[in-house]
Amino acid sequence: MTVSSLGYIGLVSQDVGQWASFAVEIIGLMPVNGDQPDGRALFRIDNHPYRLSVESGDRDGLLTVGWEFANESEFAAAIVRLEAAGAKVTPGDKQGAAQRYVTQYAASVDPAGNPFEIFYGRTDCVDDFVSPVGVSHFITGDMGMGHLVVPAPNMDETRAFYQQTLGLADSDDLRLPPPAEGAPDQRILFLHADNPRHHSLGLYNFPVPTGIIHMIFEMPEIDDVGLCLDRVNAAGLPLLGTLGRHCNDQMLSFYVFGPGGIGVEIGCGGLQVDWQNFTPTVSTVGDVWGHVYTPVV
Ligand SMILES: [Fe+2]
Repeated sequence: MTVSSLGYIGLVSQDVGQWASFAVEIIGLMPVNGDQPDGRALFRIDNHPYRLSVESGDRDGLLTVGWEFANESEFAAAIVRLEAAGAKVTPGDKQGAAQRYVTQYAASVDPAGNPFEIFYGRTDCVDDFVSPVGVSHFITGDMGMGHLVVPAPNMDETRAFYQQTLGLADSDDLRLPPPAEGAPDQRILFLHADNPRHHSLGLYNFPVPTGIIHMIFEMPEIDDVGLCLDRVNAAGLPLLGTLGRHCNDQMLSFYVFGPGGIGVEIGCGGLQVDWQNFTPTVSTVGDVWGHVYTPVV
């Protein structure tokens, strides 16, 4: 009953061209050539037809998150659970399924107001992934495209929703000092899907204007991360967080503000967990070293 992995992320941007430059020239994503009939810019990081889509709009932020199920029966069971949890489920149409390269999808919203979709049956690309800046590959496969963190001030309710409907399970409950004097502690709940990636979804207890705290692209080697940091610095882009290593997923990473203030984590070495022998953790320390953040709340 558990969601397999994070399949795709959709953004809306006031400047799709700027996003395309950032995605391709700074991160090293592969642009999908050809005009999309719906005007989206699509980017590959592996054999999926795309993992990131960016469409034009009058704001900068998260448009949707695609969660993959293994097959039609798992997908149908998830819809039953979503409706039982009181979520409005909008079935996807044929055109939308074709645009996502999936057999079937449906859209919904979590109790914190974050949009998401579920799907099954995504088509693979036949041609190889080639990064324009020479990233050999990204860490994906069965572990999905990576992870993202979304705002959820009602985090216990939102966590219960994802557990009951998508089958996501606890990885770590991290509490950190307040972002400002007089504010409550920061708390991030990390949840995993049915794959070894330490977390596919994070919930953060403060709202942010973009609706997404950050998403990660995981690279194979530390040199890939360092070379990307060189590209970020050469372009004069602002960092959301300096280089560092997380405690819970052991990711060595830095964070950059993408166009529109959307946080992007670039990392390597993320922990892969055998969930049969795992007890969810409660943490009060986020980092082994580094990761000095620019406040966003
Ligand atoms: Fe992260």
